[in-house]
Amino acid sequence: MNERLGTTFNKDNILVTHGSQQGLDLSGKVFLDDGDIVPCESPTYLAAISAFKSYGCSFIEIPTDENGMNMEALEEVLNSTENVKLIYVIPTFQNPTGKTWNLERPKKLTELSAKYNVAVVEDNPYNEFRFERETLPSIKSFDTAGNILCTGSFLIFCPGFQIGWITGDKDIIRKYVLVKQGTDLQCNTIAQMTIAEYLKRYDIDKHIRKIVKVYKKRRDITIKCMEHYFPDNIEFTRPEGGLFTWIELPEEISAREILSKCLERKITFVPCGSFFPNRNRENTFRINYSNMPEDRIDLGNCDWNIYGRFYYFSGFIGYLLLAYYLVKYPLNWS
Ligand SMILES: Cc1ncc(COP(=O)(O)O)c(C=O)c1O
Repeated sequence: MNERLGTTFNKDNILVTHGSQQGLDLSGKVFLDDGDIVPCESPTYLAAISAFKSYGCSFIEIPTDENGMNMEALEEVLNSTENVKLIYVIPTFQNPTGKTWNLERPKKLTELSAKYNVAVVEDNPYNEFRFERETLPSIKSFDTAGNILCTGSFLIFCPGFQIGWITGDKDIIRKYVLVKQGTDLQCNTIAQMTIAEYLKRYDIDKHIRKIVKVYKKRRDITIKCMEHYFPDNIEFTRPEGGLFTWIELPEEISAREILSKCLERKITFVPCGSFFPNRNRENTFRINYSNMPEDRIDLGNCDWNIYGRFYYFSGFIGYLLLAYYLVKYPLNWS
């Protein structure tokens, strides 16, 4: 793990958690109280919003572009806002956008966290799902003040085991150990033993290479279909890894309306309005290509296609496109 993240952790720096999600919840428990403020990317991971909100905080969304969170905007907030206790970021294959930060912003973020003495939670569950280019060092690897915490997950082994970790300075991790005892005493021992045995017997890197190949192929087909069939006014990300891509429709089109049309055909996706903690941008949604067999992503390959004229609108992307047009230009059947 140290090799992957560019860190130098030992066992005092790590707490095994019930998935990354528990690392987020414990971070709320350790750092947040009523009235505290959490700066985060805009948009950000919905379940982190829920976890932190339950400790009474509110959020300031920091503008985020192709290269990550805008550091000037973050500094302005840190300079002018009281009660900022925690900054939350997902720098690699972000959920929901699939975007990855460049190398400069993690360095700047560690500088700011030291200058303003604010903790940062770097949520990094998708680090290993990289399809192209080199893995970037984690934000934690630049940390000299001991303010950065980093969560990860054994999603790479198998989803559903819900075993993850949080790493950080040993004095902070000690606090996490204490609050975790109040939550669940310990993580599932059998699941941990199963993973440990797997790591002993098999080559996890070989397994990662295998799944990355599968996901990359699905990403490629999804992007190819979207490039080919989506009208120019629909924007989307081309992630270098991870499990999903993010789509922005014209302002006036609601992703929820498209979803309700898609559900009629058992096609689903995640509308992302609620991934913005302070304002719902309902023209956005997220597609997970990871869970969709290749022949069901492309157009014209779906078993429920009963109407000949819908032939070109029958795969996952195809029906999405059809639903988009049904919402934009409602049909008058009479
Ligand atoms: C950004 C992010 N953090 C944390 C999690 C939770 O991961 P885990 O299943 O390891 O609890 C997810 C899962 O979707 C995620 O996308």
